[in-house]
Order: sequence, then C-alpha cells, then structure tokens
Amino acid sequence: MDGVQIIQLQKYLDARGNLSVIEQFKDIPFKIERSYWIYDVPGGEKRGGHAYRENQEFIVALSGSFDVILDNGKEKETFHLNRSYYGLLVPKGIWREMDNFSTNSLALILASTKYDENDYIRDYQEYLRFI
Ligand code: TYD
Repeated sequence: MDGVQIIQLQKYLDARGNLSVIEQFKDIPFKIERSYWIYDVPGGEKRGGHAYRENQEFIVALSGSFDVILDNGKEKETFHLNRSYYGLLVPKGIWREMDNFSTNSLALILASTKYDENDYIRDYQEYLRFI
C-alpha cells in the first residue's frame, strides 16, 4: 500500500538487555510532535476506526502484540506487530483499525501533528468521499 512501510529499528544487544531507538528524520521520516500509547485494552476490543487528513503516525508494539488493519479505500492490509524493534509507518489519509490486542500489550504511537479532532475522519462513508 502506498507509503505504508515496516521500518526496522536499530537494536543494541548486550548482556544487560536490549535497547532500540527512534530519532525523528533519521529512523522515521517526520518530526515527532506527539507521542501517545494504548494499554490495558480489554480482550476483544478494537481501537482506531478513523483516518487523519494530515497526521502521519509510526506505531510500535512495545510489548505484546496486536493487529493494525489499513485500508486506503481500494485495498486492505493487516499488519501483525509483535516486536519492539520495528514499527509501522502509516501515512496520512489511510483508514485504520487496531484489534487482536494481547494481554498486557502496549502500543506506542508517534505522531507528526499535535492532537486536533478536526484532523480525524471518523465516518467511513465520509472517508470514501474524502479520498
Ligand atoms: P482516539 O483517537 O479515538 O483513540 P483510538 O484512535 O485509539 O481509537 O482517542 C481516544 C480519546 O483520547 C479521545 O477522546 C481523544 C483523546 N486523545 C487526546 O486527547 N489526545 C490525543 O493525542 C489522542 C490520540 C487522543
């Protein structure tokens, strides 16, 4: 899908454990304006169900696993995220849902814009008209 990408992050392994890192413009192609995380998702719950007009995001499963389902109005693709050393780059204008969260999963999301409810398209029919 156009612009969607799994990005492998640097992994520094030593006897004390592992470390991975994300730097703006180096590991991901945008300036990080905001970070948020999703946790304690009850079994069977879904998140997302929206697209952004401008915001781009990078999603990492810091712990556990979940699925990100992307839909550009023509095709649909599911990404299963389950490692903290790679993430999914989601460009603007793509409909997305997240589900299948494992117990104790933790999703880190880095965003290219500040929170703005007006940037959301939460109605799928409106999304289809938008694209
Ligand atoms: P929402 O974007 O609907 O979550 P998800 O995409 O995971 O389904 O956001 C849930 C609530 O959190 C909503 O009331 C708006 C608020 N929120 C903020 O205030 N700032 C933020 O950066 C985000 C992402 C959400």
